Amino acid sequence: MNHSASMDGTTGALLQARSVTKRYGAFTAVESVSLDVMPGSIHSVIGPNGAGKTTLFHTLTGTVPITAGRIRFAGQEVGHLPGHQRVQSGMARSFQVTSLFQNLSVRENLRVAAQGRVPRQALFGWRPPAPDDAAMAVAEGLLARFRLGPVAGRAAALLSHGQQRRLEVAMALAAQPRIVFLDEPTSGMGIDDIGEMKALIFALKQDGYAVVLIEHNMDIVMGISDTITVMQLGRVLVEGTPDAIRNDEQVRRAYLGNMITGGRN
Ligand SMILES: Nc1ncnc2c1ncn2[C@@H]1O[C@H](COP(=O)(O)OP(=O)(O)OP(=O)(O)O)[C@@H](O)[C@H]1O
Ligand SMILES: [Mg+2]
Repeated sequence: MNHSASMDGTTGALLQARSVTKRYGAFTAVESVSLDVMPGSIHSVIGPNGAGKTTLFHTLTGTVPITAGRIRFAGQEVGHLPGHQRVQSGMARSFQVTSLFQNLSVRENLRVAAQGRVPRQALFGWRPPAPDDAAMAVAEGLLARFRLGPVAGRAAALLSHGQQRRLEVAMALAAQPRIVFLDEPTSGMGIDDIGEMKALIFALKQDGYAVVLIEHNMDIVMGISDTITVMQLGRVLVEGTPDAIRNDEQVRRAYLGNMITGGRN
């Protein structure tokens, strides 16, 4: 896969957000956020509950319209494209809230995601859809990569929590994106599943994907991020490498002090 094609000419960033703002009525959930995501990097977004992390993802991926600002992806202005067009241009995401088709098998969930569209059968009762060899091949690859082969024929509803979270990340990848947005992929996971997810995310970077990661687990964030953006009250508090963030007094005061030595997760 050629991940370096058509990057932004000036900064080398694959994704550039500039002064992105999202208001809900009088409330500003995201205020003038700018960030650059470099190709093949893991860029984490952290911050306390309600800081605006998920809302920022919604604006970047086109799940909600932006109020103001600009978003460039692979040199193209995407800030006003609907979400499905951003998926077609190479952006994909997993949701904080589970978004699986519970009655479909693991394999079918992946195949549907690989086709980039939802067959009506998926929503209104099961009938075998038309075969699509390319989508099937993508699905088979993802089953192996995410260690879901043994449960490929099982309905998503019957998976363990950890398996469901892995399937969600696999589904984001099924769209064959260049950048993938993961919103708390380890939420609700036990310690073994968390370690495995950490390794899976790192492997994505090694394969050249850009990963934008919202994560409360500081072991993961500090262990695999190239860049960390810290948000507070809808704004960027500070951005830097894990070492810089770990040692930033402002961050410690605002948020990290107790988390880095334990806290959540
Ligand atoms: N549709 C909406 N309408 C109004 N306010 C909203 C809406 N969605 C989010 N908000 C508000 O925006 C703020 C940011 O929420 P968001 O979900 O982005 O936080 P977060 O950083 O992802 O938090 P968490 O770590 O708990 O997931 C919150 O105060 C939230 O109540
Ligand atoms: Mg959130």
